Order: sequence, then structure tokens, then C-alpha cells
Amino acid sequence: MIMIERIQKLLAEVNSWSANGTEEIDALRIKYLSKKGEISRLFNDFREVPNDQKRQVGQLLNELKEKAQDRINELKSGFESNNDTDADADYSRTVYPITLGTRHPLSIVKNEIVDIFARMGFTIAEGPEIEDDWHVFESLNFPPEHPARDMQDTFFIEKTPDILLRTHTSSVQTRAMTDSQPPIRIICPGRVYRNEAISYRAHCFFHQVEALYVDKDVSFADLKQALNFFAREMFGEETQIRLRPSYFPFTEPSAEMDISCNICGGKGCGFCKHTGWVEILGCGMVDPNVLENCGIDSKVYSGFAIGMGIERITNLKYQVNDLRMFSENDVRFLEEFKSAY
Ligand code: DAH
Repeated sequence: MIMIERIQKLLAEVNSWSANGTEEIDALRIKYLSKKGEISRLFNDFREVPNDQKRQVGQLLNELKEKAQDRINELKSGFESNNDTDADADYSRTVYPITLGTRHPLSIVKNEIVDIFARMGFTIAEGPEIEDDWHVFESLNFPPEHPARDMQDTFFIEKTPDILLRTHTSSVQTRAMTDSQPPIRIICPGRVYRNEAISYRAHCFFHQVEALYVDKDVSFADLKQALNFFAREMFGEETQIRLRPSYFPFTEPSAEMDISCNICGGKGCGFCKHTGWVEILGCGMVDPNVLENCGIDSKVYSGFAIGMGIERITNLKYQVNDLRMFSENDVRFLEEFKSAY
């Protein structure tokens, strides 16, 4: 029989090979695929094939070898699974490996911030993302001509009455103070919206955490102590804080807080623009007008408020340089946070 016919005959037979156990499978393997097996002999005879047929015969021969190997593996696996005595096997389970997802970096950092404040007795409060002018601006002492009230900064849903997407989580302060009387000690994480052109350092939505403490005799010293505790828990024991006077309509006095640069430890580097400090949040004593607007007696009670951007804190902790990464859901980026939580 000429070579090509021998190969084709075997090719036709391969699929009908059967076996009753591993021994018979092994016998098949030896008969066809061992060194002296039929297929190996065909390979030896390949030398005698005339040159003009070598290409065609070679291809068929390789095909035969592969098919034979596959069939033997198939018989083996069929036999193994037939023999599976594990009655508890879960046949609905996917055959693909299950890879666990990761928490989003902003959620990791948000949870960490909330945990730290929870250790100081703060509880979570939430408010709506679609708000009205009074909760976002008016109650918080924003004068009517304040630029944040401009269409350029705020997304309005309806202009009369003013329904808008909240531009900060400070609106949750107002909700908490109008809903209950002191003592109030809340932490409000949430998403906020501003009409910004999207770039590596600005986005039309981002996330903030607001903290509010209102009670009798709450002082600036209490605020400073809470900030100090937060900074050390979040960025490490050696972290220093610095408060700079600032202005917010709803706090008086107001401050911005810097921490010693957590990259260079305060020595000065490119990240902190060689100042040794990086800004992380705004804070202050709740303006008595705000307390009164919300029905709290400012002669009896005082309070402090803190507001920070979660993206900002995440950038500092993990050196994410492009804000857009947070909303692109690129798995390669998200997977970098596998070990973080
Ligand atoms: N609401 C401010 C903003 O979005 C942040 C802020 C500053 C919140 C100072 C506060 C605060 O509670 O005391 O820029």
C-alpha cells in the first residue's frame, strides 16, 4: 500500500478507537504512538516519499499524529471522569478559573476614611445627589452672587425652582442639622458634580467626605485634635499637619490643612513642589448663621466641619496621576489595588 493510503486509512480509524480502561488506552498508545508504533513507522518511511509528494504527505502525517494523540487524551479523560465517584461534585461550576475582583480604589480609601472617623464616634449620614439650592448654597451662607451658583460651575436640572446636582457633600450637613438636634457627629461620603472640562486633574464628577460635629463647647482645639488623629491614621504616625487660614462661606474661622509630604517625608520633592507640604482638606468652625439657618441655637451649640476629596487622598496614597483613571474601569488599573484590601 502506498504511504498516502496507509495514512488515510489510519485517519479514518482514529475516531473509532475505543478502550475499556487505562490499560487498553495504554495499549493503543503503544500500538500507534510509541517508538515502534505504526505512526512512528510511517514517519520513518517518510524518507522514501518522492520529493514532489513530501509536502502533502508530511501534512497528512502530522495531522494523523495530532488526531491520534487527541483521541488518546480524550479516551483518558472520559475514563477518568466516568470513574469520578465524588457525589458532591458541583457540575454547575464554570470550567474557567474564577478570578476575584477588587474593590475600586476610591471605595478602599472611602472605607478607610469612614473607619477612622468611626473610631472617633462619627456615624455615616447620606443625602441625595439631586438637591435644591437651599441645601447646597442658601443654608450654607453662600451669597446670591457667589460664583459657585453660576451655571458655569453647577449643573442645574431645573432653574425655577432651583434643582441641581450637589456640588459638595456639605449639603448633607444641612440635612443632618435640620433633621435632628445636637449632639450630631456624622461622616458623609458621596458623589458630587461640577461643570468642569474633563482633564487629568479635573472631572465633572468626583467624591467627597464631609465630617460634622455639633455639640456644646466644641472648639477649634477639638477640630485640630480630630484632624491630627485622622492624618496619622491615614498617612502614618510620623505625619505632621499644618493649618492655613482660609475662607469658606459656611465656616468661621476657616482653614485648609496640609500634611507633611508623604513621598519625601517633608524634605521637599517634585510631588510637593519642593515645599515639603501637600494640601488635603478644608475645615473650620460651623458659622453661627448656618446653625441658625438649620434651627440650632448658636448661643448654646458650636461645631466643626471638615470636607475632603476622596480622589485627592487616593492620589496621595497611591500616586494616581490622572483622575480619569478612576472612572474608566480599566481592569489593568483596578487590578493594581488587589493587595490594598
Ligand atoms: N464644601 C467644600 C468644597 O467642596 C469643602 C469643605 C471645606 C467642606 C471646608 C467643609 C469645610 O465642611 O469645613 O470645596
